[in-house]
Amino acid sequence: MKPLLRSLNGEAVWPPPVWLMRQAGRYLPEYRKVRAGVPDFVALCTTPDLAAEVTLQPIRRYRFDAAILFSDILMLPWALGHGLEYKQGEGPVLPPLRDAAGVEALDPARVADRLAPIMQTVRLVRAGLAAEGFADTTLIGFAGAPFTVACYMVEGGGSKDFAAVRAMAYAQPALFGRLMDVLTEATIEYLSAQASAGAEVLMLFDSWAGVLSPSLFRTHCVAPATRIVAALQARHPGLPLIGFPRLAALLAGDYAATGVNAIGVDTGSDIAKVAAMLPPRMALQGNLDPLALVAGGAPMAAETASILHAMKGRPFIFNLGHGIVPQTPPEHVAALLEQVRAG
Ligand code: CP3
Repeated sequence: MKPLLRSLNGEAVWPPPVWLMRQAGRYLPEYRKVRAGVPDFVALCTTPDLAAEVTLQPIRRYRFDAAILFSDILMLPWALGHGLEYKQGEGPVLPPLRDAAGVEALDPARVADRLAPIMQTVRLVRAGLAAEGFADTTLIGFAGAPFTVACYMVEGGGSKDFAAVRAMAYAQPALFGRLMDVLTEATIEYLSAQASAGAEVLMLFDSWAGVLSPSLFRTHCVAPATRIVAALQARHPGLPLIGFPRLAALLAGDYAATGVNAIGVDTGSDIAKVAAMLPPRMALQGNLDPLALVAGGAPMAAETASILHAMKGRPFIFNLGHGIVPQTPPEHVAALLEQVRAG
């Protein structure tokens, strides 16, 4: 079995398998070259040849234990018919969804067609991994968790505090509940299609889970993830799932009850303390600071050593605590991998 799948299966594989969130992206010159040739980011995500190419780029350089499908969590609202634009230096921009008409306008019937190119990317990556000799590399498919996707839809993009979406969750629970239901059902279909196309593991990015109160976290993060995991396990028995309730590690025990096989841990959380809250066979994934990877050298080595020391003997997948940032020197990634692979 591939090392990443063994960890997800509850084995304390050592040295641990390793991959990095946002491992395909602007820190790689070969990515920037492909990116310069397409009109916009959505076009890159919906052109299977190019999306498969950039998915494979970091695998060729570093032989990571996982390839993660190149796409974005906001491709699901895009497929539902919600507007989406990526502005240079500004990040994603969407029309702010604030009322019932906004929810009614979402059209789940069009999702499968619009996301068909992404399923083709999945097939091309699986074939590419096999053809290029990466027999030990696992293909991860992913989606944003419904709450995190709702954050971008309601706010109309990123936000410092996500005040509009939190206000809607309290003040308009019926409306917000309808939005969450549409997103939860569409996420199940989207992830299931990725599994059918060849994704071997699925990851749910709940990047803004930590902005919610504990009770809203249970309602809008734990409950939808529980529905998603149950539906996927019924359709794809044995398919492992990774949950990433970012900034909410204190509630990792609640999140574990969703049925995920692994929990991603963010940079600010003590991974040993999170591990102590989880069943012993549940895998952890994380949690080097992306800025330690930018710094490299002794500070990066010390942070890495402490994570490895804390996780030895546990089912574990080495990763960052959040995505790679564009200013990361590619040679620091090589140095990190050398250290992790020495155990
Ligand atoms: O390599 C991989 O990890 C796979 C591809 C991937 C991307 N985004 C590519 C991307 C994945 C898994 C994501 C997840 C994602 N996207 C999340 C969850 C993880 C997290 O970071 O919290 C979120 C919140 C998004 C939404 C998003 N997409 C933002 C806020 C931005 C703008 C910020 C930025 O980095 O530019 C994006 C754009 C984006 N998604 C880029 C990439 C490579 C950069 C776009 C470009 O190349 O022009």
